[in-house]
Amino acid sequence: MTATRDIPKVELHLHLEGAAPPAFIAGLAQEKSVDLSGIFDDAGHYRYTDFNDFLRIYEAACTVLTGPQEFYRLTRAVLEQSAAHGVVYSETFLSPDFCGNCDPAAWAEYLAAIREAAEDAERADGIVLRGIITCIRHFGPEQAKRAALCAQETAGEFITGFGIAGDEMAGKPRDFRYSFDLAREAGLRLTAHAGEWGGAVSVRDAWRDLGVERIGHGVQAIDDLALVDELAEAGVVLECCPGSNVVLGVYPRWDAHPIEKLRARGVKVTVSTDDPPFFHTTMSAEYDRLAETFGWDADVFAEINRTALDAAFCDADTRARVAKRLESQDT
Ligand code: ADE
Ligand code: ZN
Repeated sequence: MTATRDIPKVELHLHLEGAAPPAFIAGLAQEKSVDLSGIFDDAGHYRYTDFNDFLRIYEAACTVLTGPQEFYRLTRAVLEQSAAHGVVYSETFLSPDFCGNCDPAAWAEYLAAIREAAEDAERADGIVLRGIITCIRHFGPEQAKRAALCAQETAGEFITGFGIAGDEMAGKPRDFRYSFDLAREAGLRLTAHAGEWGGAVSVRDAWRDLGVERIGHGVQAIDDLALVDELAEAGVVLECCPGSNVVLGVYPRWDAHPIEKLRARGVKVTVSTDDPPFFHTTMSAEYDRLAETFGWDADVFAEINRTALDAAFCDADTRARVAKRLESQDT
């Protein structure tokens, strides 16, 4: 098989701030004289104990991402990494909460910087980026409406989706229906984190109550085979991030991860890194582990990438352009 690094890849589930290399955040902290030493271990990696602590450290790292220029630099750094691992098309979660606290005018400026970085990265590395505005579940439904208003105002060629991340145990999907309805009416495609922590019922709730076409993670659907069959039948796409799930302890080992069982039962699964430096992963590392653990070969990876591209929230011209890169098997 071609080295996994050289397989052209489509990644659908990547948090922009969560992809910030620790050295990048440490550098910004130094520039701004902010003491963030507590969020790193002795080796300079992010340090956290469990999922809630991960969210806390994540938000602490975001405190030095204070302006559009920081997001320009972040976007370039992240896309350079992604492209180096064969990613030709990426969708990134963007949270206006971390970009001027959901103020629409501030958000427009942050977004302009992110888009400029995406255009420069496309010219430099050939990687195509689209953005999914993401509200944060544990910030509550009122704050989510503010994020949704930012989404509504900036929906278009680059901002193509709306979603929800954060603590899945906080509130219910239906609490966020207003925001999802607003985003849908603005023409945005929808995804929601579910079934990472909240079990199969959380997947069902997000799918039914928010009308999403993709589920972030969704892997705990495996505990309800009737639901698995319904997801397969309806063509709902799961944005699986196995390395993230293993490091955060959703599953104890790679061979206990349900991605292959879900695929074998007909569910559309895709592969992403979620927050790569937090989980010491890359897209090639994910592919290596999937090949090693489940025997996935070039044909399976081609199928996964085709599924991801079909489910991508981009326009038809972009999809056709990226499809050519996938077919060429040449990053
Ligand atoms: N935000 C960043 N990474 C996340 C994850 N794995 N689950 C929920 N929210 C997140
Ligand atoms: Zn995620």
